[in-house]
Amino acid sequence: MYNEVKRPYISLDLGTSNILAYVSGQGIVYDEPSLMAYDIRTNKLVASGSAAYEMMGKTNDEIRMVTPLVDGVISDLDATKDLLNHIFNRLKMMNFWKSSIVLLACPSGVTELERDALKLVAKGMGASLVVIEEEVKMSAVGAGLNVELPQGHLVIDIGGGTTDIAIISAGEIVVSRSAKVAGKYFNDEILKYIRSEYNVSIGIVTAEKVKKTIGSLVKYPNERSIQIYGRDIVSGLPKEAKIGSEEIRNVLLSAFSKITDVVIEVMENTPPELAGDIMRNGIMLCGGGALIRNIDKYFFDIFQLPTKIAADPLSCVIEGTKAYEKVVLRHIEEGMYVDQQKTYLEGLK
Ligand SMILES: Nc1ncnc2c1ncn2[C@@H]1O[C@H](COP(=O)(O)OP(=O)(O)OP(=O)(O)O)[C@@H](O)[C@H]1O
Ligand SMILES: [Mg+2]
Repeated sequence: MYNEVKRPYISLDLGTSNILAYVSGQGIVYDEPSLMAYDIRTNKLVASGSAAYEMMGKTNDEIRMVTPLVDGVISDLDATKDLLNHIFNRLKMMNFWKSSIVLLACPSGVTELERDALKLVAKGMGASLVVIEEEVKMSAVGAGLNVELPQGHLVIDIGGGTTDIAIISAGEIVVSRSAKVAGKYFNDEILKYIRSEYNVSIGIVTAEKVKKTIGSLVKYPNERSIQIYGRDIVSGLPKEAKIGSEEIRNVLLSAFSKITDVVIEVMENTPPELAGDIMRNGIMLCGGGALIRNIDKYFFDIFQLPTKIAADPLSCVIEGTKAYEKVVLRHIEEGMYVDQQKTYLEGLK
């Protein structure tokens, strides 16, 4: 019955670092940093997304930078509403939003209460059916794994705020853990290292550049160093320093040992029937952190399992939500969201 009526389908990857939006029939219509800038005195929104990122670290004290979602959970409900409004105004999506089916991808650690808060925001804007799926499952789908089969897969999604590790089989997350060790943590560790080794204070934007330019987990050919600029913590004057690849590798390795511990914990809790699948299917790496050089070699060396990096780690989740549209429609037909379907039908009138 639901297939016969026109139903806009919208999905969002509400990441700590990046927000992506997909509209059925239009493709990925939004892909920007999850950041909002407010004027402290008036509390007015000054800039959102990419424009807010451009201002980071370069503004005076009168601008307050807000990350609406921290560790994939709403940390500031008003900023989240502003963010959704910003996306939809920009894309003139308000008309689609009304009576639409909305799929929100969020981390596995999100509680029922937090899920309800997300649903409220989406429904408050007129959506008639809101479905929440776990980000790591959407990542797996977007990476091309067929999660609906009764076949175990181990997925590691290294995002900005959290690393989600999950064993997925037959459309369900069988075991999962989430660690707050991901992109932002790596940046902080790089920042701390440069401060203590070189007495130079740098900003997050520079730390991120160091990570992306020379970051690695296993030695790579033609390693190089990077020149950075910051402030001398003693004299307060501008200072430069040259940072080598090996130094950053050591910083990243120490952070990754925490992730590895959690992967081991997940493996220890994997039902024996699925352990054989994992040995055959191996590990799938997704999320922006999967772009760190030689990350596949690093995990292979530790676990001796076939390890793959998703074709486009940064868009796995949104690609997964896109591919999942047909599953959501099937679930609607199966009556999985009965509590919400009444309002959904009313919205279509
Ligand atoms: N080439 C790269 N090398 C290393 N890290 C990278 C690279 N490109 C992006 N990243 C990191 O990936 C992170 C963002 O990844 P992603 O968009 O998957 O996170 P998110 O989905 O917003 O966060 P979360 O899933 O934790 O809510 C950032 O911390 C960024 O620094
Ligand atoms: Mg993510």
